[in-house]
Amino acid sequence: MDFFSSLYTIRCDADVPRKLAAVAELDAALINGSAIIFDHEAAVAAVGNPMYAQICQIVHGSAVPRRRNLDTREGRVIFLHALAHIEYSAIDLALDSAYRFRRLPPHYYRDWFKVACDEARHFAMLRALLQELGADYGSLPVHTGIHDAMARSATSLRLRMAATHRHLEANGLDAHEELQRKIAQFDDAFAQKITTALKIIYEDEITHVALGDKWYRYACAAEGVGTEHFRDDVRAAIPGTRFGKKALNIAARKRAGFTDAELLDLGKD
Ligand SMILES: [Fe+2]
Ligand SMILES: [Fe+2]
Repeated sequence: MDFFSSLYTIRCDADVPRKLAAVAELDAALINGSAIIFDHEAAVAAVGNPMYAQICQIVHGSAVPRRRNLDTREGRVIFLHALAHIEYSAIDLALDSAYRFRRLPPHYYRDWFKVACDEARHFAMLRALLQELGADYGSLPVHTGIHDAMARSATSLRLRMAATHRHLEANGLDAHEELQRKIAQFDDAFAQKITTALKIIYEDEITHVALGDKWYRYACAAEGVGTEHFRDDVRAAIPGTRFGKKALNIAARKRAGFTDAELLDLGKD
């Protein structure tokens, strides 16, 4: 079995149970030391269209339903669906990061496949909560933001690490406390389940941003530059990105490897 072709097959599978099972199977094969080859010379396919196009209706970001109240079933479905879509996109993103960039140290592949396993677990948790509410992934329209950043960073490890794992995933850390505060207003059992899922996801996501940080620094060093081009690298893959956010999660970002000087800079317009 070739690692890269397995990743590609899994990424291209839009059948949710089969996709999640295939991630678990490859994980078990790696842990068990099954014969897996890493054919770095094999051709790398283009990113193509998002596989979730077969599951969800795709709309412009401005047309995705916004959550209103978390005290209604409808509000909770919108909230959970938005998060489930991020996690589904993140499975394919991590698989693609492990698939696309070749001849890197072996732990690069272990790192990003581990992230894909985490994202699959996160997605499965959120999907189960949606199903408890009588909904499912695909019940609502979605946007292609993460996929677009993935496609635009397909030819550069440095841009991929900067824009997706070290920027978009770090934005998720920034949003965490606000989400937890909103859901903490409710003390019903289902709200408690959401809180528990968010906490698990949050701790894992810090490790994903840390890997984005580690491999971004690696890619910069390989190109003989420092991390001072981070904003430009993000904007190259996500045009129009604005910085200067007031609500940076400083503690989580520091745990993930951002330096004080970098955080100070990100806090400026
Ligand atoms: Fe995740
Ligand atoms: Fe993640």
